[in-house]
Amino acid sequence: MRSISFVITLLFAFIATSYAWPELHILEARKGGKNGTTNGNSVNKACRKMAKLEKLTALAANQTKLDAMVAKGKLNQTEVDAIKAKAANVTSELQTMQANTTLVSTCLVVDAHQKVVGECKQMNKLTKLAALANNQTAMDAFMQKKNITDMTKLQAKIANATTKLKTLQSNTTLTNLCTQLDQQKGAASDGTAAASGTAGSAAASTGSSSGASELTLQTMSYILLPALAGIFALFL
Ligand SMILES: *[C@@H]1O[C@H](CO)[C@@H](O)[C@H](O)[C@H]1NC(C)=O
Ligand SMILES: *[C@@H]1O[C@H](CO)[C@@H](O)[C@H](O)[C@H]1NC(C)=O
Ligand SMILES: *[C@@H]1O[C@H](CO)[C@@H](O)[C@H](O)[C@H]1NC(C)=O
Ligand SMILES: *[C@@H]1O[C@H](CO)[C@@H](O)[C@H](O)[C@H]1NC(C)=O
Ligand SMILES: *[C@@H]1O[C@H](CO)[C@@H](O)[C@H](O)[C@H]1NC(C)=O
Ligand SMILES: *[C@@H]1O[C@H](CO)[C@@H](O)[C@H](O)[C@H]1NC(C)=O
Ligand SMILES: *[C@@H]1O[C@H](CO)[C@@H](O)[C@H](O)[C@H]1NC(C)=O
Ligand SMILES: *[C@@H]1O[C@H](CO)[C@@H](O)[C@H](O)[C@H]1NC(C)=O
Ligand SMILES: *[C@@H]1O[C@H](CO)[C@@H](O)[C@H](O)[C@H]1NC(C)=O
Repeated sequence: MRSISFVITLLFAFIATSYAWPELHILEARKGGKNGTTNGNSVNKACRKMAKLEKLTALAANQTKLDAMVAKGKLNQTEVDAIKAKAANVTSELQTMQANTTLVSTCLVVDAHQKVVGECKQMNKLTKLAALANNQTAMDAFMQKKNITDMTKLQAKIANATTKLKTLQSNTTLTNLCTQLDQQKGAASDGTAAASGTAGSAAASTGSSSGASELTLQTMSYILLPALAGIFALFL
């Protein structure tokens, strides 16, 4: 019960702190400085730890989920017992962290930012995967590169990616934040990062000469393959 009410509190606090965005960007921009990085890292570390402990605690308390994981063969009873023991062991540490209002409110901002960064990355990956749709040439090249034999399965994944992408793209708050992040990245690295944001579509639309298509394949293996590995992990 305690953790549920805490999650609800978090949600409301998240909504309330959404307005703290500009501040965070300033924080991010300052990260270049030496002590800024150290500071950011230690807070990030504490936030990651708290998130991890919360996740562990929630899992240990969710018998339905544990049972499902055992049924799927993802866990055995020994591991389930270990998870519960570990969760019990970290209870006081987690409570101490959660009692630190400075930490909790900072983590809300950090986590929200991290979540958006993750969603933007996912959107970029999905865009690249969706770009394969209705393009037999691109799909063949991809399958060859990735050593995939099951075209049907790939097509299903492409279809899923397209659906998911549309859902994400319909969220203008998210797309605006992604644009903002791209611009910041672009400003930080003098255009390099901004270029990579469109590399997917560039890779898909270049390659008329044989030399260029060679390059496209190479670019794809750098950009697309790691991206797709992530997407496969996501849908499996
Ligand atoms: C950060 O570094 C600057 C100089 O590089 C220094 O003036 C400032 O006191 C430092 N701040 C902290 C919190 O260490
Ligand atoms: C437990 O896990 C299930 C399945 O993962 C989820 O649907 C449910 O909301 C969880 N229950 C609680 C109390 O978090
Ligand atoms: C449970 O899984 C762990 C690691 O996956 C293994 O070492 C252990 O022998 C398993 N225990 C049982 C009872 O199957
Ligand atoms: C409980 O936590 C302490 C320190 O946090 C650690 O030394 C100990 O090994 C843990 N015990 C278990 C069963 O995980
Ligand atoms: C609360 O967390 C902040 C940020 O991690 C830390 O600087 C501060 O020392 C903590 N306060 C207490 C009382 O632990
Ligand atoms: C299909 O993909 C290939 C290779 O990536 C690319 O050269 C071609 O322009 C694409 N065709 C269409 C219609 O997008
Ligand atoms: C491709 O996959 C097949 C079987 O699925 C395997 O025999 C072959 O060695 C793989 N080739 C490469 C280059 O990984
Ligand atoms: C596509 O999505 C549906 C529902 O979202 C899911 O059941 C199916 O397994 C997914 N297919 C692939 C290949 O990821
Ligand atoms: C849109 O994305 C933002 C940022 O991730 C999120 O906070 C918000 O809940 C999303 N809105 C909808 C309707 O999904």
